Amino acid sequence: MIITRNQSEIIAAIKTAKTEKPDALIGLIPTMGALHEGHMSLVELAKNQCDIVICSVFVNPAQFNNPDDLATYPRTLFDDKKLLENNGCDILLLPTVEAVYPDGILPYEINLEGLDTGMEGTFRPGHFTGVCMVVQRFLEMVAPDKAYFGKKDFQQLAIIGKMAAIRNLAVEIVGAPIKRAENGLALSSRNALLTDQQRENASLISLALKNGMTNYELQPENEAIRAKIEAGFANSEFTIEYIAIVNNISLKEVAIADENCTVCIVVFCGKVRLLDNMQFADFASV
Ligand code: PAF
Repeated sequence: MIITRNQSEIIAAIKTAKTEKPDALIGLIPTMGALHEGHMSLVELAKNQCDIVICSVFVNPAQFNNPDDLATYPRTLFDDKKLLENNGCDILLLPTVEAVYPDGILPYEINLEGLDTGMEGTFRPGHFTGVCMVVQRFLEMVAPDKAYFGKKDFQQLAIIGKMAAIRNLAVEIVGAPIKRAENGLALSSRNALLTDQQRENASLISLALKNGMTNYELQPENEAIRAKIEAGFANSEFTIEYIAIVNNISLKEVAIADENCTVCIVVFCGKVRLLDNMQFADFASV
């Protein structure tokens, strides 16, 4: 695996990799490191669909609205490199803040047509501006044919698709299914911040979602589904930040759920913020 640290190194590495196959398809997986099986499923998907797989590891300061969150974000570079190497990543992009933002973090304007106003947009102001800024930068640096993102960050995936369309970037944004631990916990870099016991108890999140969504057609009202999900957390160590029942395309809250909707949830376990979502289409009876 070739390691590159800035734009000129990544361009040179891609040029070399393309010498034998000039029309080789390039797949990019942008990450913030602390890699796990979820990221490796993106690598696997990219390997199946592309000829050259590039992964970036960069903890993007522009997308953290809480300095504590940035400071405590898990960093496991040594293990990340091993995991990527073992899973067949061809090129690792490991830039400094200066390489990503040579002119500093400048104001960034984008009209995401409301996709960024609810959910994470409400609780993490400025977050999606930072995400769009860094993803656009990586897409411009690497110019991949396809870029891969996990569906666990449901709102982020929709917003990155919108950003790529608005900016006219010639890239296909690919969403990959959520990877879950055996107990149902959605894999996330932040799980590394949980104790073993908390990780075990966090099976509650997917269980609560499933309980709230099973047979939803019998009582599809937003409030009824929400109440069932909330009940799943009664007397637990988890506190709910939000539960949103939204249309898959507009990301707007709906009054009545149908198979075009998703439940997005964020809970805290102590200081650790955990995201999950499930789609009603997976619970529809027909
Ligand atoms: O999902 C993430 O890990 C980050 O938000 C991303 C897309 C790599 C941008 O920093």
